[in-house]
Amino acid sequence: MSESVPHGGKLVNRMKLQEPTDPALKFVELDKLELSDLELIANGAYSPLEGFMGKADYDSVVHHMKLANGLPWSIPITLSIDKEKAMELKVGETINLCHDGNVYGVMNVKEIFIPDKLVEAENVYRTTEMNHPGVKKLFERKELYIAGPITMINRPVKTKFEDFYLDPIQTREIFKNIGWKTVVGFQTRNPVHRAHEYIQKTALETVDGLFLNPLVGETKADDIPSEIRMKSYQVLLENYYPKERVFLSVFPAAMRYAGPREAIFHAMVRKNFGCTHFIVGRDHAGVGNYYGTYDAQRIFSHFTEKELGIKPLFFEHSFYCRKCGNMASEKTCPHESQYRVILSGTKVRSMLKNGEQPPKEFSRPEVVEVLIQGMREAYKEEEIPGKRGITES
Ligand code: ADX
Repeated sequence: MSESVPHGGKLVNRMKLQEPTDPALKFVELDKLELSDLELIANGAYSPLEGFMGKADYDSVVHHMKLANGLPWSIPITLSIDKEKAMELKVGETINLCHDGNVYGVMNVKEIFIPDKLVEAENVYRTTEMNHPGVKKLFERKELYIAGPITMINRPVKTKFEDFYLDPIQTREIFKNIGWKTVVGFQTRNPVHRAHEYIQKTALETVDGLFLNPLVGETKADDIPSEIRMKSYQVLLENYYPKERVFLSVFPAAMRYAGPREAIFHAMVRKNFGCTHFIVGRDHAGVGNYYGTYDAQRIFSHFTEKELGIKPLFFEHSFYCRKCGNMASEKTCPHESQYRVILSGTKVRSMLKNGEQPPKEFSRPEVVEVLIQGMREAYKEEEIPGKRGITES
């Protein structure tokens, strides 16, 4: 894999930021997930999508993990409306796409259809349980989907770490200018701990550059907020990574927690950002016990490398082994579990909240310091009722 071609052959651009808004048009109100999808369609991160999916693409994605044209795509990208709104709108008309009183885009309505959310949940999330955060979100969304090509005419203002929002066209240009021919993408919704660092650096041994691309859209309430994570990534990179080999920018999508299906989706999007390789470790994009540890790796065998156009790099469960005296994995460490420093995400979050330091074999001390400080502040704010909408990270 020596060149990164956007999914479907060319990078989509549906941004027309000079276009005037027309307040007279009928409108659909987008939630935060839909607004982030709108922007990611418009800036080409979701190439070849040019709008929210119609029924043919939706059905094909839900049942076959492919767009109607045969390209791999694993997660439906849809816009939901209720019955009343559906009665008001007509196929063929242009509508405004709004959020919180602002118009962000327009859509040419091609279709309005009723999805089978049970089938969507079963196929995409492998469960219909409402305890699954992705399934819960799916069922909370409105009952019909409206589809058609979009144009973004106004971008949401970035209120935090605004320098780290880059479009695929920009990251591609940057990788080209630095001279990276091979780039490995890393998705994360967590702080980067030693195990993440280990698999990133192992991958970096064989490619030119690492694209650290943390997801900063909607996440579940107990994930660590993105503003704290961003500080922790920066302090980690400053202290432990060669500057000329790593590039950090954010992925403003919502987390779906769809495990295997989301791993394919994450890989396709990182291809659009210019990656040639993509890391998939243990339980990628998983939640609770819904997916097997390596299901998100196995799912890649449904596609040929040519179809995917990006090479997945698989890693086994990694940890620090006190007997080996270094980082290792299930594959490389012969020792018993008592020597392995393994902490669950829940345990780490509760330690950080209580100001307890996870061991340095688990997480770099500089990272721990930023996380404890950040959690202390976030926690203080949470005590003021309604101060923090903690469903968004
Ligand atoms: S995710 O939801 O974004 O996948 P996380 O940020 O924890 O969660 O993981 C980022 C990437 O690192 C994923 O590819 C995941 O599989 C991998 N990963 C996380 N922890 C480990 C680990 N201990 N060993 C191997 N891979 C890991």
